[in-house]
Amino acid sequence: MRGTVELSVVHSDIEKMIVTEDELKVRVAELARAIESDYDGRDLLLVGVLKGAIMAMADLSRALQRHIDMDWMAVSSYGSGTKSSGVVRILKDLDRDITGRDVLIVEDIVDSGLTLSWLKSNLESRGAKSVEILAILRKPEAAKVDVNVKYVGFNIPTDFVVGYGLDFDEKYRNLPFVGVLAKHMYA
Ligand code: IMP
Ligand code: MG
Repeated sequence: MRGTVELSVVHSDIEKMIVTEDELKVRVAELARAIESDYDGRDLLLVGVLKGAIMAMADLSRALQRHIDMDWMAVSSYGSGTKSSGVVRILKDLDRDITGRDVLIVEDIVDSGLTLSWLKSNLESRGAKSVEILAILRKPEAAKVDVNVKYVGFNIPTDFVVGYGLDFDEKYRNLPFVGVLAKHMYA
């Protein structure tokens, strides 16, 4: 059944589009230029947070005109609902030691900020030289937590969004844009 669902049906679950494919492309390129200049002459390790950051990693890494290393972590914070639990668990750890490395965490979204603030201190405690954060999207809630997100793609409202890597119950990650999930899908 899943496989036969047409794209138009998927789109009808979306209340409104908030970041278009073109806007994402332009913004990711801008962030890439900023990163190239900020990390000039330094090794750079991008750490993608699975699975939400897959699109951001794919696009950002290809936009960067320099060498980078890539690694991945998987952490859980949400389960299948739409509210952050604050409980962070490592499901997949980094493959390599990061002692002395300049690390840039690549995330899909910073909402409560709990996941990222936990992740940042976790990586810092492993002896990284620096740990910065890039998030494609930032919700207003994030301002309440003391986590410094150096690179932000777009500030968005509090609505639950999907697409460009972001899921609801593992679906919608493949949408090329970011949209607000229609309330009837989860209310
Ligand atoms: P935080 O700990 O509240 O900042 O949430 C971080 C994680 O929750 C993100 O990495 C996402 O996987 C997920 N998340 C937060 N807001 C949304 C949303 O609007 N849509 C889909 N996933 C979200
Ligand atoms: Mg998620």
